[in-house]
Amino acid sequence: MDINLIKSQFPIFTKKIKGKPLVYLDSSNSSQKPTSVLNSLDYFYRNEFSNIGRSIHSLAVNATNKYEETRTSIKNFINANSKDEIVFTKNATESINLVASTFGQENIKKGDEILITELEHHSNYVPWHYLRETKGAIIKFAPINDDGDIIISKLKELITSKTKIIAVTHLSNVTGTIVPIKEIVEIARKKNIPVLVDGCQSAPHIKIDVKDLDCDFYAISAHKVYGPTGVGILYGKKKWLEKLPPYIGGGGMINEVNKDKITYASVPEKYEAGTMPTAEVIAFNESIKFMESIGIQNIIKHEKELTNYALEKLKKINSVKIIGNPKNKAGVISFVIKGIHPHDISTIVDEEGVAIRAGHHCCQILHNRLNLSATARASIGVYNTKEDIDILCKAIENCRKVFELK
Ligand SMILES: Cc1ncc(COP(=O)(O)O)c(C=O)c1O
Repeated sequence: MDINLIKSQFPIFTKKIKGKPLVYLDSSNSSQKPTSVLNSLDYFYRNEFSNIGRSIHSLAVNATNKYEETRTSIKNFINANSKDEIVFTKNATESINLVASTFGQENIKKGDEILITELEHHSNYVPWHYLRETKGAIIKFAPINDDGDIIISKLKELITSKTKIIAVTHLSNVTGTIVPIKEIVEIARKKNIPVLVDGCQSAPHIKIDVKDLDCDFYAISAHKVYGPTGVGILYGKKKWLEKLPPYIGGGGMINEVNKDKITYASVPEKYEAGTMPTAEVIAFNESIKFMESIGIQNIIKHEKELTNYALEKLKKINSVKIIGNPKNKAGVISFVIKGIHPHDISTIVDEEGVAIRAGHHCCQILHNRLNLSATARASIGVYNTKEDIDILCKAIENCRKVFELK
């Protein structure tokens, strides 16, 4: 795997930040985009633009076909049974809201329980909180240990006859924990409880096989897998998508409309109301092709090496504390430096062209659990190199000097 060749596919890396080459370590927030994705967007708007699924002229048919090609690519990428199980949404947040809202309408009543975990991003908590507010549902949090691993025995204990759904992240955007989804699904299956997986962070970093995981729902954002913003997908087992009510109403999601009665389109169109982000869905296909051209196993190997290298180097810097030490970890490294606020770390390393994130990363429950208000986070993408990590570590040393730390 030739990293320089990969990096050269990302035009942003020719840019300078504060006069320095960009060291982008904020891919968990959003990844940068390769030329193929950018070209696809530009080409479609310049040469092929049309809305999809409505008109039957040549441009419309071509656009519709390309849009559906992305659906097939994603079906293969996550190993779904059918392309009808792939619904395009705005992002993973919308995918989770879709399930919480439609599943909640039909299956949640007062006192019913929703089981999530202390690792969850707000996107996999707030939508369930709405059901607490509107339906009187109870939300339970499976606890984590100090390493950042979910305590599976405790998760098991929290399941009762009232548990209606389990919603859990595949990969923590703070500790980098890779969650044993298969094990959780096996536990849930025995009690006939559906499982939603927030795959927002896992999609760029690990192999996803929804058939093997046997989960009921899986949510992904395109912008985290080197694709455009404004597109996500919800994978849902066909039996669920067919059974659940529609989410957003409007054009494109109906079958027949009368003054007294409306029937809905079959899945996945039932969940794709209104004009969709056509150019972005089509460009999303290029990001999948980009990842497949490298090969997910090569990506995993490269990112593992880089994560280990970064952890080793960061641990050697006085007063840097890495947050969490999970059994299985991806390239998401949150840390604190005693005596320096994470926002100050981010601002100072930015002077060296280094982009990291600081804050609670939309995980206030997790930060509270760890007795922290904020952390700094360096997150790795396929384009990062050992040199990027060296520059980060040097910038952190500089930070310590500015604050006169020993
Ligand atoms: C674990 C996790 N879930 C969900 C989301 C929400 O993603 P989006 O903002 O693309 O909907 C994020 C974004 O950072 C995330 O890290």
